[in-house]
Amino acid sequence: MLKVLSSIIVLAGALVLSPVWGGDFDRQSLIDADYKQGRTAFQQRCSACHTLAEGGSNLVGPNLYGVFGGEAGTKANFAYSDAMINADFDWTPANVGEFMADPLAKVPNTKMIIPEGVPEADRAAVVSFMMLETGAADWARPEIEEELLPEGASIAEKYPSFWNHMMNNTTHYRMVTAEGEYEFDAYFNKDGSVSSNTKVMGFWHVDERDFFCYALHRIPLKPKQFIECFPIVAMSIPRFSQELWKSKPAAGLTLHGGILPGRP
Ligand code: HEC
Repeated sequence: MLKVLSSIIVLAGALVLSPVWGGDFDRQSLIDADYKQGRTAFQQRCSACHTLAEGGSNLVGPNLYGVFGGEAGTKANFAYSDAMINADFDWTPANVGEFMADPLAKVPNTKMIIPEGVPEADRAAVVSFMMLETGAADWARPEIEEELLPEGASIAEKYPSFWNHMMNNTTHYRMVTAEGEYEFDAYFNKDGSVSSNTKVMGFWHVDERDFFCYALHRIPLKPKQFIECFPIVAMSIPRFSQELWKSKPAAGLTLHGGILPGRP
C-alpha cells in the first residue's frame, strides 16, 4: 500500500514538475547533488523558519511541502507580504535557487530576511534536498550513511560551535511588551543555569528533539517569566549581532535576541 501510495505521489510530482526544468538546474544535476550537503545547509540556514514535511507547522516562514511547481505566495494559512502575494511566478527549482541566493533581489520587499544568501556551491544541493523532502522529486532519496555519535553524546560534542557560542558569549535581549521595553544581557552557563546583568535569572535544558529550551523569570514587567525552545541546528552558524532573531514566546511579548562577543 505504501509503495503504491508513494508511486502515486512520485507520479503526481513528475506531472506537476515536468514543465519547470531549466534555468540553472537541470534535472541530472539535482539528482546528482549531495543530499547531506543540502540537508546540512538547509538545517543551518532555513530550518529555523521553515518545516518541509507534509502537514508541518508554519514557523516564521510557511511550511514548504508542495511548494515546488506552485505559484509564489499562495499557501493557505500563511500571512505573506504583499510583495510575495503579488510576485507573479512559479517556484521552479531555478526560482527557488535564485530566491535563496538573494531573497530581496528576487522578490523586492519580501519579508524573508536571511543573514546571507546561500553560496552558489550549496544551492543545487539545497534545492535537491528540498525537492526530496517536499514531495517534488521524481527520483529516489539516496541511501545515506549516518555517522552516529555515541549514545549519550553531550550537546558540547554534538554541536560544538553552538555550545561554544552560547556558553562563552553574551545573549542580548530586548523585550517589547504593552508595558514598555526591557533590555538585558543573559549568560547561559554550562551548569544549566542562566544569569544576567539584571535580576533576571533562569535555567535551560536540551530536549529529546535537540531543541534548546530555556526559561527566564524575575522580569520587572509583564510577562514576568517566559519559556522558549528552538532547534539547535538553527543556531549552528555562529554569528554576532545585537539583534539576530525575533520571536513571540508569550502573549503580549515580542522578543528580540542577539549574541554579543564575550562576557564581562
Ligand atoms: C528568518 C526566517 C526565515 C529563514 C531563515 C528562511 N525563510 Fe524562507 N520565508 C520566510 C518568510 C517570512 C517567508 C514569506 C515571505 C514573504 O511573504 O515575503 C518565506 C518564504 C519562502 C519561500 C516562498 C514560499 C511560498 O509559499 O511562496 C521559499 C521558497 C523559502 N522561503 C525558502 C527558504 C529557503 C530555501 C531558506 C534557507 C536558505 C529560507 N527560506 C530561510 C522566512 C524565512
